[in-house]
Formats: sequence, structure tokens, C-alpha cells
Amino acid sequence: MKKLVVANWKLNPTTAKDAVKLASSINIKAKNKVVLCPPTIYLSSISYPNVGAQDCFWKTSGAFTGQTSVSQLKDLKIKYCIVGHSERRATGDTDQMINGKIHSLLEAKITPILCVGYGTTVLQDDLEVVDILKHQLDAGLNGVDASKVVVAYEPVWAIGTGKNASPEHAEKISIFIKAKYKVGTVLYGGSVNANNAKDFLRQQNVGGLLVGGASLKAGEFNGIINY
Ligand code: PGA
Repeated sequence: MKKLVVANWKLNPTTAKDAVKLASSINIKAKNKVVLCPPTIYLSSISYPNVGAQDCFWKTSGAFTGQTSVSQLKDLKIKYCIVGHSERRATGDTDQMINGKIHSLLEAKITPILCVGYGTTVLQDDLEVVDILKHQLDAGLNGVDASKVVVAYEPVWAIGTGKNASPEHAEKISIFIKAKYKVGTVLYGGSVNANNAKDFLRQQNVGGLLVGGASLKAGEFNGIINY
């Protein structure tokens, strides 16, 4: 079965030319389903079967300087949008704001990719992690048809550190999220690379990956999406 692999380019690359070049070097006929999420400013330049945004605003228009609305994403035929990434939560995004974004995305028929895992630490056991995630999931999915949402479990300590969670831990957490919230697809994210990707993709309940750093290296990312 095809899994979902999402590339989160974050604030990279620094020119539109490099963004177009990177997108054109990613296989379009990969074994897994792939979504490229470039910075907002490059969304209209990237041509790839599935393109996603890294964030959005919960209002569709109005006096909201610097924001991007779901209507604008829809107009560009964007199919996915990451919300609640730990890097956004760290700069002030609350669970309520994230919930508003999810409602807005679903109304526009754009698939939200809800990131959870902010506030977890490396030494916590599975039950403690579940406790923290529950707060983020209860609030983020409030009033939402969770079967239409992709959830990405990203323990914050694993992001960009080169230290990934164990595939068995990712599997356990995925089982919990699917069972309790009826979410169809749960991804794992946090220091995924071409070497460890297969260990996560082999887990039955891990529905795919959210990849940061390794998605900026075409050779490495092509290895991940073709497993
Ligand atoms: P990383 O980032 O793969 O560089 O750890 C993942 C993410 O932040 O989505």
C-alpha cells in the first residue's frame, strides 16, 4: 500500500529558481504518494502533482497583514496544508488557532496535516506522551471530522536534531491516534532520512512520513519516497 510522504521545506531554499530546480528533481512517479510543501511565496512557481502549504490563516479575507487564506491556497490548487507545526506553536500558535485553521481548510476541501508532539521530551514513556498529545488532539480536532485530517506525530526533541524516535514508539502512538480519534492517516516526523525511513514505513500503522531536512536533498528524498 502507498504511504504518504510530505516534504516540509520550511524556510528553504532562498530563491525561486532553486525551489523550482529542487521540485523538478523529485520523482513524480515515486512508489509512495508525495506532497511538496515549499514556502508560501513559491507555491505558485512549483509544479508537482501534490503541493501543500506550510501554514494558513483561519479567516478567508480581511485586514490581516501578512497572512495567507485557504481561499488563496484553493485558488492555487493546493491540496494539503500543514498546521500546528512545533516551530509555529513555539512562536504563538495556540490549539484554538490551529483548530480554526483546520475548520477553514476542511471547508475549502484542503487536507490539513495536523502536527502534534510539541512539549514532549526524549525521556517520556509512551503513556506520558499520549497524555500530552491528547490535549493537542482534543483541542485541534474539536468539532472536526477527524477522518479527513492527516495527523503527523513529531516529537519536538526529534526535529532537526538527528535523533529520531524509535519506529516501535511511532507505531504505538499511531495506533493510539487512529483508535481514539478515528484519524485515517498518521505520519511520523523527526530526523527521518534515507537510512531510517524504511524502518518507519514498515510499521503497519505509520501511514507515512513528514520530512524536513532530508527533503532538501533530492537524492536522499528520492530514496525515501521510493522505498
Ligand atoms: P526534520 O524536520 O526532518 O528536519 O527533523 C521535520 C519537521 O520539522 O517536519
